[in-house]
Amino acid sequence: MSIISRLPLLNASLNSLSVLFLLSGYVAIRRRRATLHQRCMLSACATSVAFLMSYLTYHYYTGSTPFTGQGVVRWLYFAILLSHTVLAVVIVPLVFLTLRRAWRADWVRHRRLARWTFPLWLYVSVTGVIIYLMLYQLYPSSSHVGGS
Ligand code: HEM
Repeated sequence: MSIISRLPLLNASLNSLSVLFLLSGYVAIRRRRATLHQRCMLSACATSVAFLMSYLTYHYYTGSTPFTGQGVVRWLYFAILLSHTVLAVVIVPLVFLTLRRAWRADWVRHRRLARWTFPLWLYVSVTGVIIYLMLYQLYPSSSHVGGS
């Protein structure tokens, strides 16, 4: 199995790590552990950037992967994919702005914006894992059997 064919599994793992960092960062700030919150959120940024690079590399070499599920599950898959894709674009400037407000110690505005950034980013990361499971594990196409 080539390195490229393993990238979807790496992508899903990076998305899962982002989910863990985001949830840990949220719990940390609720407990007033600001330094831990900062580290978790910056780690979530790092895993999301690594995911994006790996995702682009994979699709540069393979193009798009067909979804083979039929009926209701097909509608469900494309509804998740569409909302995931749109929000993945939306969260990029939101994450930058949320970080900028933190660097400037503008906590009131950081908090106000972060209450949007956090759930949307979490949604994008969780649906990234769901899309991987549906596309490569539950309904693999014949040319992509086994998570490739
Ligand atoms: C894009 C990444 C980040 C996200 C999504 C995020 C998310 C959040 C959220 C949701 C809250 C509000 C929690 C609540 O409702 O009580 C919050 C508060 C806070 N965040 Fe972040 N955060 C991020 C980055 C950072 C960074 C890098 C720092 C430190 C430099 C930081 C420091 C804080 C502090 C000190 C608070 C408390 C503000 C207050 O007292 O009202 N955050 N953050």
